[in-house]
Amino acid sequence: MELLFRPRRLRRREALRRMVRETHLRPEDFIYPLFAAPGSRVRQEVESMPGVARLSADLLVDEAKAALDVGVPAVLLFGLPTRKDDTGSEAASPKGAVQQAVRLLKKKLPELVVITDVCLCGYTSHGHCGLLSGREVDNDATLELLSQVAVSHAEAGADMVAPSDMMDGRVGALREALDERGFEMVPIMSYAVKYASSFYGPFRDAAESSPAFGDRRSYQMDPANIREALREAALDVEEGADILMVKPALPYLDVIAQLAVEFDLPLAAYQVSGEYAMIKAAAANGWLDETAVMLESLLSIKRAGADLILTYFAKQAAALLGR
Ligand code: PBG
Repeated sequence: MELLFRPRRLRRREALRRMVRETHLRPEDFIYPLFAAPGSRVRQEVESMPGVARLSADLLVDEAKAALDVGVPAVLLFGLPTRKDDTGSEAASPKGAVQQAVRLLKKKLPELVVITDVCLCGYTSHGHCGLLSGREVDNDATLELLSQVAVSHAEAGADMVAPSDMMDGRVGALREALDERGFEMVPIMSYAVKYASSFYGPFRDAAESSPAFGDRRSYQMDPANIREALREAALDVEEGADILMVKPALPYLDVIAQLAVEFDLPLAAYQVSGEYAMIKAAAANGWLDETAVMLESLLSIKRAGADLILTYFAKQAAALLGR
């Protein structure tokens, strides 16, 4: 048969396939989320996230070092408080688990980029991401608290802060608070487009941050909307965000792709706990090849347009890529 073009010609050998490959995963694409627990020598496995544990600062250093050794440049820290209250007051404490972990990580691994998650849901007794006024989350009152949290992280030595609360105006509020304290060089990675997703379930086990009543749909985005995603991102750019993020990742590749063409800021995507748990669970059952599916899902997120990927697979994937 006479076919002018045969796409299979360039697929015949791995060497040829490598030459025409359009997308490449690199260890430096990854940011490794970690959970900072109070105390020392603490390691609590998270049941719904096999391979993930809440770690005290001393053990976080070992885990971050292992990731750094295979080429992962950055971690994202979430904190667990010793005590929760109405206002999440421990979130801004210089003695909090995150603040202590940041200090130790920066001391032991100075080249590691330490990013901190700025939110209240892990610290409030009601599990919502802001201050309550009745049964509603009070946007503007929350901004003041979030600013204090971000400043406390910067004071501990954080290289970057990442607000995940989805209050309106929080990027601008954080930028102003950081600048006032002399932290004008600390970048903000904004969870600009964060959907009210059911894929966060396992994370809420890890952070013990499920809302005690209701849900997060009055502040996180409706999964049905993409125009609104562009608007959210545009607002964060105006307010001074340095990196934009889309979250979750795989179910929202269209959103990642659209943001990648519309904006000129670096774009991150968060492969969230539920995405991780699905792959781990199917692999544990022998239903999927864990390594292959992990790499394919990460590659897809990058191909869609993400420059950076937040993933619980960071260490595992980087170790494979570096070989
Ligand atoms: C806190 C926060 C959440 C995640 C990151 N930051 C949970 C939530 O909004 O309920 C989810 C991360 C994951 O599922 O891996 N606001």
